[in-house]
Amino acid sequence: MLVRSGVRGSVVPIVVLLLCSWLLVFRGHRQWGWFPSVEPPLPSVEIVVASRSTENTSWVHEYLPGWFRSIYVVDDPSAKLTVPQNKGREAMVYLTHIINSYDTLAETTVFVHASRFAWHNDDPDYDALSTLRNLKPDYVQASGYVNLRCVQILGCPVEIRPHDDAATQGERAPGISNSGRPLTTKEIYKQAFEELMPGVDAPKKVGVSCCSQFAVSRETVRSRPRKDYTRYRKWLLETPLQDDLSGRVFEYMWHIIFGKEAVFCPSAAECYCKLFGLCDLRCDEMQCDGRYILPKYSNLPDGWPRVGWSGEARNFSGPL
Ligand SMILES: *[C@@H]1O[C@H](CO)[C@@H](O)[C@H](O)[C@H]1NC(C)=O
Ligand SMILES: *[C@@H]1O[C@H](CO)[C@@H](O)[C@H](O)[C@H]1NC(C)=O
Repeated sequence: MLVRSGVRGSVVPIVVLLLCSWLLVFRGHRQWGWFPSVEPPLPSVEIVVASRSTENTSWVHEYLPGWFRSIYVVDDPSAKLTVPQNKGREAMVYLTHIINSYDTLAETTVFVHASRFAWHNDDPDYDALSTLRNLKPDYVQASGYVNLRCVQILGCPVEIRPHDDAATQGERAPGISNSGRPLTTKEIYKQAFEELMPGVDAPKKVGVSCCSQFAVSRETVRSRPRKDYTRYRKWLLETPLQDDLSGRVFEYMWHIIFGKEAVFCPSAAECYCKLFGLCDLRCDEMQCDGRYILPKYSNLPDGWPRVGWSGEARNFSGPL
């Protein structure tokens, strides 16, 4: 009796222990996704990057690991994501993404250029990463469309007066006046607008912060049918205008496409606070102290952000 109960006493706990550890391991694996069973949900935030093959986009992978990423390479037909034709700059990428992903868009899509450090990024170091890390997707959802620049320097309060600025294109070449002068975006905007939005009058004034980086909610993109975006891209593919003109038309179209008033210049203080959570800044209507200084040149100095404009050392604290 003593022997039997001794055996039973040691076997039962061992079996229970084995069962428990098997369950733990098995359940653990399920949680770690070793047994994928359901369709992945649509992403909550996705970053769409317009890049050329010479640009280094590894910062997007390195520093935004939790984000879905769609990195388009415009001049590499063999890239995983590319465009039908390298024309119209970043506009071709953004439209291609919307057209191809219309049914699987993220809740919030952020559209950006490839350079992490660029003169137009609204940050003391011109660092796109810092703006993206601060971005509040909830605010994008509430607003529908947001520009990634809060500062109103360049583009606001009014950049284009389409009716007053319109100039006649010459007969000889697109985007060139009769006297042979290259036309500006302002001068061709009205005609482009009317071609893109048939039946809609061009607005009297257009204002939006520059530089074509913004975020939109899925609902806002889908407030237009996919065929609208297809029509815009067809225009871009077919227009005889040079890329700098056709691409820049869209810079002053996106906010209108996404349902904002033609003049969309929220106060800098409100924008920095709601979009980036920077609420303790000292601001006037157009800008906040120290957030954005229009640089002298559009090319940042070699060694930026550790080296400044005069070769001086800068204290840059972000990851590199
Ligand atoms: C690309 O940038 C990363 C930093 O994000 C750097 O480590 C890497 O060396 C760069 N690659 C090239 C080819 O310059
Ligand atoms: C950078 O930091 C050092 C040490 O903290 C300081 O002495 C220097 O003034 C700072 N430079 C700038 C440009 O802020």
